[in-house]
Amino acid sequence: MPSFKDRARLIYWQLRARTHFNRNDVHGALHRAWAYVHATQLSGDYYEFGVYRGHSLISSWLSYRRCNGRILNSKDLPYERKGSVANFMSHQSMFYGFDSFSGMPENDEGEDTLATGTFMATEQSTRELCAAVGLKAPRLRLVPGFFSDNAHAIGSAPAAIVHLDCDLYLSTRDALNMIGPRLVQGSVLLCDDHDLFRASNDKGQRRALREFLEQSQIELEPWFAYGAASRAYLCHVPNRDGQTAPQ
Ligand SMILES: C[S@@+](CC[C@H](N)C(=O)[O-])C[C@H]1O[C@@H](n2cnc3c(N)ncnc32)[C@H](O)[C@@H]1O
Repeated sequence: MPSFKDRARLIYWQLRARTHFNRNDVHGALHRAWAYVHATQLSGDYYEFGVYRGHSLISSWLSYRRCNGRILNSKDLPYERKGSVANFMSHQSMFYGFDSFSGMPENDEGEDTLATGTFMATEQSTRELCAAVGLKAPRLRLVPGFFSDNAHAIGSAPAAIVHLDCDLYLSTRDALNMIGPRLVQGSVLLCDDHDLFRASNDKGQRRALREFLEQSQIELEPWFAYGAASRAYLCHVPNRDGQTAPQ
């Protein structure tokens, strides 16, 4: 059961979701990503690697609901809800959350803030917090355990938005290798920890992204920077237009 403080926070977040678009933080980034996904009718799921207590997962869900609701409930759309719009709206995006739920794995990145066991949260409390804003099964799939053990839990639909919030090089590398086959033309990649390690290209997310791009045919187009150290990218993926399920 979420605490009184958590419940008050969730009510505030639900009200605040209306004003997310112009924020230059993770909430603004998630809102902008969902607005883009709806504007371009990119059918797909939301993947978060690094959930902790579920705050950004919930923020993403609230933004999704708001963007989706605007199309579902608006009486004066300049287009009809049929054809490509109906196709897009028929896909109910899944929200995947991958986390050890035992904190950061062992690592030699040398940052005390990212030491083994930091960011400890329980799957149960995260699940309860998500449920308090209506994010629950079957739309929610929390996958406990280290990423490298859970590639089988990746769904079959394209990834509309991938949120990498796992800080470390090895964790980001594992996440990218898992989700790579689900990236399609236009998928959004949100890299929360892009400029950690003083923006070194040889550490953390920068290193993982560089190596991933070297070994795949995917190109990343810089979209915008947000927060203290985060970047958003749009994926260019040859021969995967997102209209058909990737293999
Ligand atoms: C900064 S926290 C995520 C914050 C979260 N998105 C939020 O909104 O508060 C990073 C999370 O990544 C998880 N993590 C990092 N590497 C992981 C790995 N290889 N496998 C599973 N979980 C991992 C940690 O357990 C931690 O909860």
